[in-house]
Amino acid sequence: MKRVFTGCLFLIVASASQGPSLAADAVDGAVASCWGCHGAGGPPKDPTIPIIQGQQAGYLEKQLHDFRSGERDDQIMSSMAESIRPQDVARASAMIAAMPWPLRGGDAAASMPDSLGACQSCHGVDLTGGPGPEGVAPRLAGQFAQYLEAQMGVFARGERPKAKTMTLMMKSLDAAERGKIAKYLAGL
Ligand code: HEC
Ligand code: HEC
Repeated sequence: MKRVFTGCLFLIVASASQGPSLAADAVDGAVASCWGCHGAGGPPKDPTIPIIQGQQAGYLEKQLHDFRSGERDDQIMSSMAESIRPQDVARASAMIAAMPWPLRGGDAAASMPDSLGACQSCHGVDLTGGPGPEGVAPRLAGQFAQYLEAQMGVFARGERPKAKTMTLMMKSLDAAERGKIAKYLAGL
């Protein structure tokens, strides 16, 4: 009799703790699947894949929604974003944002292009991003030059159209200037 009672008690305790721990596992599991591409314990190996660890939470959250809705077009990331349940996107973004930004080193410091002054009002004086007039601006400092240059081209072609000021600004800079900016930002 005593044995049966202990067994029942165990079951009750186990099922009571199952709800929250299962939810946490779903988010952990989804986030664990990111690092094969986005870098495990360091920056991504491929400079066309952005650093996301330590990126602004609100920015990550918006990008995951944009990839899911097709507002931002990338086949790989659209399916990765769909692998996170909509109700988990905010928490997954907060978890990734809380990780330290992986420092890379190795990019030669370039001199600051004059055109970068106009970016600081939204991306911050130190270019680590934050809330701004058009939503949360991402950290640019220390990101891969190749990735930054590619995205500046994406804005210039009007392919992330909701970011209106970004689109106008990138259209107003030629490819050579965008390349200089990307190089400088990567060296920060
Ligand atoms: C198979 C490789 C791969 C996997 C796995 C992957 N990503 Fe990505 N991710 C990419 C690529 C490539 C890009 C750049 C897309 C582009 O050029 O627009 C990207 C871009 C992003 C961006 C945009 C960052 C920025 O600075 O704008 C976010 C956010 C992101 N990924 C989050 C995630 C999350 C969260 C996961 C895990 C659930 C994940 N990714 C898994 C390849 C991957
Ligand atoms: C009016 C505010 C504003 C100004 C000024 C601005 N940005 Fe942005 N920028 C943003 C916002 C907001 C986003 C995110 C857009 C989105 O949600 O897709 C962004 C995104 C970016 C990205 C994409 C980064 C990534 O991880 O994909 C790059 C690169 C960038 N900005 C570079 C610049 C540069 C360089 C300048 C100056 C020449 C500049 N921005 C000026 C607000 C601004």
